[in-house]
Amino acid sequence: MSKLVHAQWSSKMTFVLAAAGSAVGLGNIWKFPYMVGESGGAAFVLVYLLCIAVIGLPILVAEWLIGRRGQKNPINAMSELARRGGHLPAWVLVGVSGVLGAFLILSFYSVIGGWSLSYTLGSITGTFSGQNAEEVGGVFAGMLASPGVLLLWHTLFMVLVIGIVARGVTKGLEGAVRTMMPALVILMLVLVGYGMTTGHFGEALSFMFRPDWGAINGEVVLAAMGQAFFTLSLGMGIMMAYGSYLGEEVNLLGTARTVIILDTGIALLAGLAIFPIVFANGLDLASGPGLIFVTLPLAFGNMAGGTLLGLAFFLLLTFAALTSAISLLEPVVEFVEERTPLSRVVATLISGVAVWILGILALLSFNMLGDVLIMGLNIFDLLDTFTSKILLPLTGLGAILFVAWCLDRKSVADELNLSGGSESLWLVVARYVAPLGVVAVFIHSLLG
Ligand code: PHE
Ligand code: NA
Repeated sequence: MSKLVHAQWSSKMTFVLAAAGSAVGLGNIWKFPYMVGESGGAAFVLVYLLCIAVIGLPILVAEWLIGRRGQKNPINAMSELARRGGHLPAWVLVGVSGVLGAFLILSFYSVIGGWSLSYTLGSITGTFSGQNAEEVGGVFAGMLASPGVLLLWHTLFMVLVIGIVARGVTKGLEGAVRTMMPALVILMLVLVGYGMTTGHFGEALSFMFRPDWGAINGEVVLAAMGQAFFTLSLGMGIMMAYGSYLGEEVNLLGTARTVIILDTGIALLAGLAIFPIVFANGLDLASGPGLIFVTLPLAFGNMAGGTLLGLAFFLLLTFAALTSAISLLEPVVEFVEERTPLSRVVATLISGVAVWILGILALLSFNMLGDVLIMGLNIFDLLDTFTSKILLPLTGLGAILFVAWCLDRKSVADELNLSGGSESLWLVVARYVAPLGVVAVFIHSLLG
């Protein structure tokens, strides 16, 4: 697409689909359940929901607004808006750290996308049919132990991402997202239905929704906030980039609500599908990143039509991961394309290969480099922790502060169709509640 003619989304629906394609991904189905499991259940879920509502929603709106006003990629949009308003040029750092975050996240995201790809194939070949918990766990452990296998799938996943981004056909995926989302929701509902037959659904419900407030500590709160940023694709300039294609007529608050309900709904359904299986099979709640890969194959292996459902599920998961991964590579490519004389294809290749190399370090932390710890974390965990818990919240904080304090208050209220009471509410949330929320979580986690 030519940068001179900055095209706009053909319709509001197209934009919602693209934003949802970025938001809904491994974060909802892979990451959310295992974090809930690791962090003690309902207390984490409730803090997460609170973060989504009072921090995620305003920041999502702020990022779209910056993008729509700047009409450029995140870095240029930030520097342009800062210059226009006579603000510090340092605001451009909000855009720069976003690109860095996207680069780091994609490296480990692709490793998990590879797992999903591998399980798609495993479902076709019937690897999981009739297996018990131990056997399913064995298959997963076997995959993790083999650098070659992980590398193969990580590579395949990156090849798909690079291929799609290099050809600049990302917008062509909207139609696919349109069919994928409903299919994903229906499949999650089927899995929740299966969970109800295990006899452990009540246990799962109370695990997810009856909080043990004693479980809340600084670490849990920081994890919940980080997950809110990660799942909504915030703090990476991605939503800003999407906002730059947005027409004036689109209602930002309403659209944010739609995307958030879809994203949160899918995450909660994933939890309701997975925890009954965990309880029914006496599996470890704190299985970490392997959780869905050791629970769902059990369900598919033991239910009628499971082979087909399993195939459909992992295919959809891979697809959801792809649309998110594409949205992660896109800003990095745009950055390289804009700062160098390289063509789009070459820029995509170089960025993609750099991500792929970092991803190799990430996947080796499940085997050969498992003992290499930096600040107590292996490389995979370090990439995840640094981005979700530090980089994304800081970048998002910058975005909301800029919109709430630097942009003209009246014009922002007009743009969001706010007046009177709703305008005051927005002001209080955007100026104080959301930024102080982020800061409070940081301080809380430092204090333990
Ligand atoms: N939001 C995506 C998910 O939940 C992951 C993602 C993060 C995508 C950041 C783009 C940017 O899986
Ligand atoms: Na998400």
